[in-house]
Amino acid sequence: MRESGGTVLVTGASSGIGEALASVFAEHGHDLVLVARSADKLEQLADQLVADHGVVVAVRTVDLSKPRSAGKLADGLRREGWEIDVLVNNAGVLQHGAFAEMSPGDHQRMIQLNVAGMTDLLACFLPDMLERGSGRILNVASIASFLPVPSLATYAATKAYVLSLGEALAEELRGSGVTVTTLCPGVTDTHMMNDAMASSEGLKLPRMVIGDAESVARDGFRACMKGETVEVPGALNQALTLTARNTPKWLLHRLTGLMGRSTF
Ligand SMILES: NC(=O)c1ccc[n+]([C@@H]2O[C@H](COP(=O)([O-])OP(=O)(O)OC[C@H]3O[C@@H](n4cnc5c(N)ncnc54)[C@H](OP(=O)(O)O)[C@@H]3O)[C@@H](O)[C@H]2O)c1
Repeated sequence: MRESGGTVLVTGASSGIGEALASVFAEHGHDLVLVARSADKLEQLADQLVADHGVVVAVRTVDLSKPRSAGKLADGLRREGWEIDVLVNNAGVLQHGAFAEMSPGDHQRMIQLNVAGMTDLLACFLPDMLERGSGRILNVASIASFLPVPSLATYAATKAYVLSLGEALAEELRGSGVTVTTLCPGVTDTHMMNDAMASSEGLKLPRMVIGDAESVARDGFRACMKGETVEVPGALNQALTLTARNTPKWLLHRLTGLMGRSTF
């Protein structure tokens, strides 16, 4: 009989960092519930993880930016007898550009998924974990969580929220058996990064600052399973976030303003 390392629900598992996280958890013997909107990509990944690692994988096609979608997902899984041991809140969207040139809907889409959707998932899955006295939560934020970013103003603000919420919850839940880890990747080679670069001619990044999704996922997995509060993958990103936390705010804002405006 195969013994599962516990069931992990991964949002945004159809590509990029979420897909890599799902693969790393499967590699370590965890059963999975894969969530995103693209059913075909999720089914394909599920088949591959079952074949490669012999784990049990379920697919749920959900638009997490819709109100009450997290509640419906949690109720459905509970009815079917699933217990979620690890919640990976990874789904997110980014839009790059001048704030005033984006539509009100663009801003709302980022807030609905990156802030409202992830908070709703926490509110729906955390109570069961607390009742069992065990569980792990991995929220995916960003290095943009550490500083306001002109040209990514709304996105960075949503990610500052994810970090703040995660740090507060990690402390609030101390001793409960449930840990909360916030993963803060730097620029990572995924659809999100490629779409942002393709839509903004001024946004050019040197190859050396771009990380790969698999390394980010491995660092996130390790930090989550150890119950660490914040994980910033990569030495360059660690230096950047340390600098951001120790530079006077007025100077930091001028520097990010200069860099951000040059990308429009
Ligand atoms: N790439 C980077 O440079 C970078 C850096 C720091 C942090 N991050 C964060 O890492 C996380 C993953 O991003 P990524 O870079 O891997 O981008 P990605 O490849 O574009 O993946 C985004 C994932 O979110 C899902 N998603 C988007 N809208 C959704 C919705 N409304 N409901 C449910 N799922 C939805 C997408 O699947 P469907 O389209 O199938 O729904 C996809 O699986 C995000 O939270 C992002 O902010 C990325």
